[in-house]
Amino acid sequence: MKITIIGTGYVGLTTAVVLAYLNHTVSAVDKDSTKLTLLQEGKSPIHEPGIQSLLNEVGHTIRFTPTVAEVVPDAELIMIAVGTPPKIDGEADTRHVEQAAREVAQVCLPNIHYTLVIKSTVPIGTNKRVAEVVEDVFAERKIQGNVSIASNPEFLQEGLALQGAFYPDRIVVGANNNNALDALRRLYQPILEQTFDPPTTLPRPPSYHLPSMMTTDPNSAEMIKYAANTFLALKISFINEIAGLCEQVGADVTEVARGIGLDTRIGHRFLRAGLGWGGSCYPKDTAALLRVAAQAGYQMPITEAARTVNFEQRKRIVQKLKTVLKTLNGKTIGILGLAFKPNTDDIREAPALDIIRHLVAEGANIRAHDPIAIPNAKQALSDINVDYIEDVHQLSHNTDALLLVTEWEQYHRLDLRKLAKHMKTPILIDGRNVFSPQEATAAGFHYIGIGR
Ligand code: UGA
Repeated sequence: MKITIIGTGYVGLTTAVVLAYLNHTVSAVDKDSTKLTLLQEGKSPIHEPGIQSLLNEVGHTIRFTPTVAEVVPDAELIMIAVGTPPKIDGEADTRHVEQAAREVAQVCLPNIHYTLVIKSTVPIGTNKRVAEVVEDVFAERKIQGNVSIASNPEFLQEGLALQGAFYPDRIVVGANNNNALDALRRLYQPILEQTFDPPTTLPRPPSYHLPSMMTTDPNSAEMIKYAANTFLALKISFINEIAGLCEQVGADVTEVARGIGLDTRIGHRFLRAGLGWGGSCYPKDTAALLRVAAQAGYQMPITEAARTVNFEQRKRIVQKLKTVLKTLNGKTIGILGLAFKPNTDDIREAPALDIIRHLVAEGANIRAHDPIAIPNAKQALSDINVDYIEDVHQLSHNTDALLLVTEWEQYHRLDLRKLAKHMKTPILIDGRNVFSPQEATAAGFHYIGIGR
């Protein structure tokens, strides 16, 4: 199929390379000239495991352009995957989505059928708004356009984006007409039936089952996206709340999570207690859902509480450090991990940023390490003084405490004994419960985890 994707962020670019790999003819539009130049040179503008090698393989088949008019008229299906940044009150701003729809409608040929798919995360009802925008443009152009609109939310996780795209749990499509459903079924057929040869770097997981394509009305599809993210966010906040109580009563939250996760109704995943969620999705989407609710005159105390628990985690860890060090003023703290999670350089809403700001406000000196997120962190924290150090052992030298914020794989393999030896006071605050308390204590650390 001939496909045009508007927006080459995490979702748009991942979708573009995966669909190109599946032999669709893909064009991708982006207005950001820096990004576009990189993509035209075959380089990925995002850090995402596997994306560069897939771009090397299929990037030359994708047409990257800044101009909608060049690639929309002869496309069969157009996907909008642009950003929906939060407004000050938390509402998701759909301006770019509407603008993309307008640009598409301006160049659609009359009497040709197009499927316009909304992949961006959008407030419930956006599909109707987009349909109105398209109809308005057709009225201005005095043409009879033929565009079917569908909502097709994306569920991929950063750091695992390609796995999520090739081997999804489900595909959700909200559409009120069969043309759009048929087009999306054809688009995703290789994934639904797993008829493609997996990329060498991304073998099909042995236990993988064929995904289903769930079809529903567009409003429900839009709501599914918010409900899914909010549910995962509150699952994490729940275990973090339990972790706090575990500390008070002498239980170990990792054991509690194991024990409740064995109940298949609960499941193990997303029960890792720690410093809570960050990133471009849960903070933004829970806030946006609350705005949708407020506009509908509806209260969502569970979602509110999930947010409160999440952001409190960042203050509690600073409090823990303060309790053990007596004062933070003049102390040197080593931060391990700046990205909001491992395998990405994304620092949007990353717990590390808040934690560093809290520590600096208490008078602490900060040394920070991250395998790839330092350049982004430098920008985000340009107003405060932070020493960025590329070697963890060098970072630990003479520090008063280490605080692990992001559970990068390489931190699991750190030589704790060596680290402890060079610190002023060997205190390890393990914000992601990466180490075993016994192992850290045996290495000479005063170890403090989360909920254990
Ligand atoms: C999330 C969802 O998982 C995706 O399904 C969704 O498509 C995406 O948002 C989106 O809306 O675009 P993502 O934000 O990339 O994906 O990352 P997650 O892996 O879900 O992790 C989010 C945060 O939760 C991270 O800060 C992570 O450290 C934290 N987390 C996760 C925990 O604290 N504990 C856990 O058990 C799991």
